[in-house]
Amino acid sequence: MSLSGLFLMVFLVVHLTVNCFLFAGADAFNTAANFMVTNPIIKVVEPILALGFIIHIAWSIVITIQNMRARPVGYNKLNQGKNSTFASRNMFVLGGLVLSFLAIHIANFYVKIKFTHEVGEAIVDGVAMHDTYTLVTNLFTVWWYVIIYVIGAIFLGFHLSHGFWSAFQTIGFSNDIWRKRLNNIGRAYAVIVAGGFALIPVYFHFVQ
Ligand code: HEM
Repeated sequence: MSLSGLFLMVFLVVHLTVNCFLFAGADAFNTAANFMVTNPIIKVVEPILALGFIIHIAWSIVITIQNMRARPVGYNKLNQGKNSTFASRNMFVLGGLVLSFLAIHIANFYVKIKFTHEVGEAIVDGVAMHDTYTLVTNLFTVWWYVIIYVIGAIFLGFHLSHGFWSAFQTIGFSNDIWRKRLNNIGRAYAVIVAGGFALIPVYFHFVQ
């Protein structure tokens, strides 16, 4: 669970970095997106990414069922907010909500680029490539897609705020000193990643 989670967290940083090229304009983003689809290393990483998602989701279901079976009669819950965070208590639900967002997101871009070919062509420095920039920015002219992407980013942020620390704790990296540090780094990571993913649709809806 933790290793697949860490792998997905690295993917999110790479994905957000590529997405930041949107702010640099059509040619810059299309070139970055084209580099990602044509690079042989990325071609190898893509099935591993899919496997990472599958392992992460399947394992979350297994451990949630194990947790429920281990304690059929629930704990008497008192002052939960004082002992644990909202995210830590709701990781499975938050993960499910991120997955629902992901299904919409994959239909918006990945399916249109890879399968239905609903993407135009751009020529940058004489090289023909997908016009992914127009595909993305057109989507964010629709206000309710902006809301879906912002809400998706918020769910992701909560999921990561606990997941980051928890992943390091599971692999044995946390101790009395590092627990607090990892918590803070995890929160910062979650805010930057969720904030970045939320900013893009809002920016392209209002500024472009
Ligand atoms: C502003 C928000 C986002 C934008 C503009 C965006 C853009 C894109 C685009 C254009 C693609 C297709 C890439 C291609 O095949 O050429 C893609 C794929 C993908 N995105 Fe996003 N994305 C965003 C947020 C997210 C978030 C929050 C997640 C994860 C929770 C995510 C996960 C994925 C995955 C798994 C793929 C398919 C694998 C890949 O092509 O790399 N994306 N995204």
